[in-house]
Amino acid sequence: MLQSVSNDTFLRALKREPTDYTPVWLMRQAGRYLPEYNQTRARAGSFLGLAKNPDYATEVTLQPLERYPLDAAILFSDILTIPDAMGLGLSFEAGEGPRFAHPLRTEADIMRLAVPAIDSTLSYVTDAVTQIRRALTNANGVQRVPLIGFSGSPWTLACYMVEGGGSDNFSRVKTMLYQHPAWLHRILEINAQAVAAYLNAQIEAGAQAVMIFDTWGGALAEGKFQRFSLAYTQAVIQQLKREHNGEQIPVIVFTKGGGQWLEEIAAIGAQAVGLDWTVDLARARERVAGRVALQGNLDPTVLFAPPATIRAEVRSILDSYGNQPGHIFNLGHGILPLTPPEHVAEMVDEVHSYSRSLRLAAKA
Ligand code: CP3
Repeated sequence: MLQSVSNDTFLRALKREPTDYTPVWLMRQAGRYLPEYNQTRARAGSFLGLAKNPDYATEVTLQPLERYPLDAAILFSDILTIPDAMGLGLSFEAGEGPRFAHPLRTEADIMRLAVPAIDSTLSYVTDAVTQIRRALTNANGVQRVPLIGFSGSPWTLACYMVEGGGSDNFSRVKTMLYQHPAWLHRILEINAQAVAAYLNAQIEAGAQAVMIFDTWGGALAEGKFQRFSLAYTQAVIQQLKREHNGEQIPVIVFTKGGGQWLEEIAAIGAQAVGLDWTVDLARARERVAGRVALQGNLDPTVLFAPPATIRAEVRSILDSYGNQPGHIFNLGHGILPLTPPEHVAEMVDEVHSYSRSLRLAAKA
């Protein structure tokens, strides 16, 4: 419950309440840039071995929190667990990214697709949520930081399900959009129901905020984004439990490459919108006019620069948002695997110390 979270800065910023400093977490904060992650992954044998075992998933979720004073934990899992549970046969070849053994290519493939039973196929995820909540909580019942649950958007999941893996141009799924739009709408409708059920199961297991990753929304044309991505993300949000154990459950929507649609994304019922690094936060704040909190948006590549540059870029983002409630600091996309871990410490420290100094200067 909220009262027992010792650091609830992240949840307060999502509600656009004043905070003593700007909270920060990182997309993909548990991952290959951390040597301790690589060790656990080696013990687990593979990425899926890690993600499907709640003990390992709990261990790696906590690793970045041991190193850095981050303001939120994010469930360690993947967006592709849903299509895996639908029977598409997920695997990760070393250095190759995700692969599906049974991608959706024919009308028959699509007619067979169904919403999976979350409690039997994805209990390893909800078990991980329960265990992580417990591991974040001390003997006095006080939880260190809130736990974020997540899913892919219906469109982003469909990209992988039709392509059968990653893609440079999404030609298969976009050809389906133009040639057989009804097929794609059927996939998206099933995905929306599955994503809503999956996120609701995470909320019931203890996720205190949920984030929807629409990583490939920006690959769509004007007009198509609204009909094939945004409408289905909105359908997910409409089906979500917005309250659990008396606490509000905020929703964050992140569309990579979606800056031009910010006003529309801000209007589908989420509490916060995640932004990639192409967007200026000062203008973004004007455009959403206080309707949502904003999360972002340091270019992940900045973390390869020397500490003084990292600190200057962090200050520039905090200055552009301004000393106002409703900002959660993050990267504009996931942290890159070769990022030096000590550079992340510099970033987190500058977010906390500089945002604190801005609050104090405004009070003086
Ligand atoms: O943020 C976190 O720390 C939570 C964990 C998390 C992972 N994947 C773990 C992971 C989250 C939130 C995701 C989301 C995800 N997965 C997205 C959306 C966000 C984004 O980054 O755009 C997407 C598109 C995927 C699909 C996916 N999973 C791909 C394309 C890959 C391979 C490429 C890569 O980065 O390795 C994965 C594998 C994956 N998911 C890894 C991790 C830590 C790396 C696997 C490994 O250990 O080798």
